[in-house]
Amino acid sequence: QILPQISALLEGETDLIANMANVTAVLKQALGFFWIGFYRRVGEELVLAPFQGTLACTRIRMGKGVCGTSALKQETILVPDVHQFPGHIACSAISKSEIVVPYVKNGFTSFVLDIDSDKINDFSETDKEYLEHIVRLLGDSEG
Ligand code: SME
Repeated sequence: QILPQISALLEGETDLIANMANVTAVLKQALGFFWIGFYRRVGEELVLAPFQGTLACTRIRMGKGVCGTSALKQETILVPDVHQFPGHIACSAISKSEIVVPYVKNGFTSFVLDIDSDKINDFSETDKEYLEHIVRLLGDSEG
């Protein structure tokens, strides 16, 4: 349902940070998870970008935690129980499940979308499919 709203928002704006900011706002309002945000790839690290939620770690090494693993492997990672994920980075003690979707273009990961839930097993394959679509729209909007 929010896909048309997001496409309309991104149309005509090519600034990635501005678009990330609006996408987090729309997702937060529509989905309500306690943390929804982006990390941008800067060298061998992911650096915190626009988000909605509680304060977060500012830098994550490529390959570390769920975000760093997703960015390195260039695939979406769905974590039903963060306590079972080796190397999970706990930015918040209330995080129980998580999904991370990378944006990959020409073989390079330029950012990831991270959503954290305070409930176990809160993300489905349907969430994955639509979030991947949103991340693709967002990444492709950049000028
Ligand atoms: N849990 C993430 C870190 C980012 S925050 O929770 C916002 C991870 O393991 O990559």
